[in-house]
Amino acid sequence: MKKVTISRLIAQKAEGTKITALTAYDASFAKMFDEQHIDVLLIGDSLGMVLQGEDDTLPVTVTDVAYHTRAVRKGTQNAFVLADMPFMSYATPQDTFTNAATLMAAGASMVKMEGGAWLCDTISALVERGVPVCGHLGLTPQSVHVFGGFKVQGRDNDKATKLIEDAIALEQAGAQMLVLECVPTSLGKAVSEALTIPVIGIGAGPETDGQILVMHDMFGISANYMPKFSKNFLMETGDMRSAVKKYIDDVKNGTFPGPAHSFE
Ligand code: KIV
Repeated sequence: MKKVTISRLIAQKAEGTKITALTAYDASFAKMFDEQHIDVLLIGDSLGMVLQGEDDTLPVTVTDVAYHTRAVRKGTQNAFVLADMPFMSYATPQDTFTNAATLMAAGASMVKMEGGAWLCDTISALVERGVPVCGHLGLTPQSVHVFGGFKVQGRDNDKATKLIEDAIALEQAGAQMLVLECVPTSLGKAVSEALTIPVIGIGAGPETDGQILVMHDMFGISANYMPKFSKNFLMETGDMRSAVKKYIDDVKNGTFPGPAHSFE
């Protein structure tokens, strides 16, 4: 097993090999996922909900994400380590540079930020300074109060068209990967086909270039809520390592997500 790089993830998309991703927040789970050959580990700001018990991701700080990124990096040999820029940590150029530098220094190989074409200048400025960027479109949880709840996005034609335009703009600005959350299967497919960079879906149907789940949802142990697009692989397999392996196998062979875990 070789180290996963962004070039390899882009090559996987080109050759049609599905990309597997999970969130991780500590060294032990990172090591377990890495040993099962997961491609990408995300230190998501979902940590606010699944570790800290918050109702949404807004209270998470750069210090929180950096702390968990350091731990995940220590447990990881090969997987690609991606860290979330939390709410308002990329509101100004100076904040963006300082906070992205903190996460890269903590061990991230790329940072992820939520938003459409308005982020293009921020993305180009980071890439010019040596910070690789992953975009995040669809249901962007940092905007939950703008959306009025955790709702499927891009269901009408105008919104779907705008989302595809945003995705293309992010790629043109220099983003090298995109997370696409909670959109209809047809839109997940359209966005993946419109881009050359890998599109990692979560609730975006089976036709994206890869899949990501929050690890607590994949194990069925989230405190409050199990999203429709997730699946309890631990219940099906009975132990954690087998659950991770089954998730990876099912993503690779296209059996996860099925219609029950996707939106029309
Ligand atoms: O914070 C997170 O875990 C995420 C995933 C839902 C993709 O952004």
